[in-house]
Amino acid sequence: MIPSKRIEIFCGTGGVGKTTLATSRALKLAQSGKKVLLITIDPAKRLKQILGLEKAEEGQVIQLSNEVFGPNSDNISALLMSPKATLQRMANLSGAGEGLDNPIINILTRPYGGMNEIMAIIEVQYQLSTNSFDSIVLDTPPGKHFIDFLESTQKIYQFFDKSFVDIFKYLGKKFTNENEKVKTGLLSLLVQTGVKKLLKYLGKVTGEDFVDEFIDAISGLYRNRMAFTDALAFQEHLKKPEESNWFLVTSVDQQKVSEASGLRSGAQKFMHKDSYLVVNKSLTPYLNAWQPDGSNPSLVKLRDSMKERENAIKGMATEGYKEVLFFPEVLGTEPKSHVNELAQSWS
Ligand SMILES: Nc1ncnc2c1ncn2[C@@H]1O[C@H](COP(=O)(O)OP(=O)(O)OP(=O)(O)O)[C@@H](O)[C@H]1O
Ligand SMILES: [Mg+2]
Repeated sequence: MIPSKRIEIFCGTGGVGKTTLATSRALKLAQSGKKVLLITIDPAKRLKQILGLEKAEEGQVIQLSNEVFGPNSDNISALLMSPKATLQRMANLSGAGEGLDNPIINILTRPYGGMNEIMAIIEVQYQLSTNSFDSIVLDTPPGKHFIDFLESTQKIYQFFDKSFVDIFKYLGKKFTNENEKVKTGLLSLLVQTGVKKLLKYLGKVTGEDFVDEFIDAISGLYRNRMAFTDALAFQEHLKKPEESNWFLVTSVDQQKVSEASGLRSGAQKFMHKDSYLVVNKSLTPYLNAWQPDGSNPSLVKLRDSMKERENAIKGMATEGYKEVLFFPEVLGTEPKSHVNELAQSWS
């Protein structure tokens, strides 16, 4: 079996089988006695359905029972990401948890609210730090959202740069400790009162507490800036072959394979070169076992051309990956049985 690492990332474009394969990998590791945490940052929440966690609370680590996938599936814990819960815990840990129940923060932390990706990175980093699991298997959102996930730490870094501090000064808000006086020259005093006037006016126009809420939201986030910038360290784990396995998932389809290459170029600077290309829904095992009646040449032709197509994909894909892994198309419609069958294919 492919040796497990502390972080195992499943990425790929839409609908190729990331969630199903990530779950099957977690199951395989669990069956071999490892403690695994399976995290999904995909707001589509398909994992919930597969694991029967419909009623489970988002943002909580839940240990599976052996009823889900049979013996040893209780070695798996699952976490459905909740950006809001992650932010709150992070802030509580750094003693700055007050005041985050704010309408603007609530908007930013809802699914696709703009903070999903950075909160996911913070969540994974936190779970790693607890040392409760041998491996963390990460099911990521499709395509572009995955690149956003990788790039989010860089964006956060810019967000908290010096200009941020300046905004506070202009807004006339204290932002570090109570005793620190914001130095105000005559000019900045003028600017400051101007901004205050503008904000007051905005408050009147919107007829809401928008301005105060905005300032509170920004200062709430600012108080937690250290935790955000700490998340940068996480990317170093991702770049080390001894710490992470990358599985770029695609399916047996020329279009999907090209999309996978595109995704890989976008993610290249974050990953290491020992990554795996995972070709899902392969028909090769069936084609190899299929012996069509020789008296029907068109069936023989069909089988051979299908085999050829899969081989061609194998040929075009091998470049630049440590290994190409093929997973068969599983018959049947039950997602749970897909996971169980695919788990066997990891050996
Ligand atoms: N090897 C396989 N054989 C048969 N069906 C499969 C296989 N892998 C995945 N599927 C099925 O394909 C569908 C899509 O799979 P899945 O949800 O895992 O894809 P995904 O890449 O996570 O999708 P999304 O991009 O929407 O998150 C599901 O119905 C799943 O059960
Ligand atoms: Mg998915």
